[in-house]
Amino acid sequence: MKEKVLKLKENALEEVKKLSKEADVLNCKAKYLGKKSELNEFLSSLKELSVDEKKVMGPLLNQTKKELEEAFSQKLEEINNQVSYDFDETLPIYVETGSMHPITLVIKEMTDIMKKMGFTVVSGPEMEEEYYNFEALNIPKDHPARDMQDTYYLSNGKLLRTHTSPNQVRAMQKYGAPLKVCAPGRVFRNEDMDANHDTTFFQLEGMVIDKGISISNLIYVMRSLLSETFKKEVKVRLRPGFFPFTEPSFELDCSCLICGGKGCPTCKNSGWLEFCGCGMIHPNVLRESGIDPDEYTGFAFGFGVTRIAMMKYKIGDIRVLNSGDVRSLQEFEIE
Ligand code: PHE
Repeated sequence: MKEKVLKLKENALEEVKKLSKEADVLNCKAKYLGKKSELNEFLSSLKELSVDEKKVMGPLLNQTKKELEEAFSQKLEEINNQVSYDFDETLPIYVETGSMHPITLVIKEMTDIMKKMGFTVVSGPEMEEEYYNFEALNIPKDHPARDMQDTYYLSNGKLLRTHTSPNQVRAMQKYGAPLKVCAPGRVFRNEDMDANHDTTFFQLEGMVIDKGISISNLIYVMRSLLSETFKKEVKVRLRPGFFPFTEPSFELDCSCLICGGKGCPTCKNSGWLEFCGCGMIHPNVLRESGIDPDEYTGFAFGFGVTRIAMMKYKIGDIRVLNSGDVRSLQEFEIE
């Protein structure tokens, strides 16, 4: 009998070791420790044994029962632990870190540079008064310049601003002269969309007003700003342009960032890239803003931040910038 019990124990321990499912362990436990188990039969037959035999078999059976119970509960615990820690700690963890939008990055970088040059950053509403977007900027209702900046007129009498220039007048009226401000922001135009045109894009406006401000100040500020932004010395040149709110008005070109001015496909072999509109603030605009044009002069410029972001991060299609699809951010070469 003793051998039988020892063999039984050995078999049970061997069997339980191989199990990996909770249900199998419970079945196995019933088989070896349940009411109809062999061990139970041995226990019930104890009373039929002699006193000497009882002295040996009693403790042996109890000990066996205890050991098997322990083995079963240990196995169950092992299985339960496996379930609750059901992941492989050695797997690499992919943490998706976000990145700033390219437009946000360019605005931050350029306004930081302008702040160092003494400009204050201001902002105005995207839903703008017609007065600030046009009239105050010397663009009366019947002026043909309104055609080039057609926009969305809202039922509340306001419009979606077509440029950041309304901030010129807002800032002058609020702070007076002398003044050195820049205003980044979203602007809107009625535009046929393609890879280079969107109805919504970003501009950065800059303006300096003081006594004796001249075109040479404009050139110096633009050259410094662009050289800092592109981290290389650039040249700028002015061509005659037209804006109702500046006189004289210019188109400012920047020496090609790719070839440095020698001529390449990017600059269509001209060596120059069209950069922005600018000019000396029109006396009518100064007057409208409460500043005496005989005492103060100033310059202003406004350029497309979206274009710069596209150049800087090699973005081929302007539309992805407003797409709202996070996957598009992963395509950009943002360091
Ligand atoms: N607001 C003009 C545009 O959007 C650019 C500009 C700004 C021109 C300031 C002159 C002075 O095209």
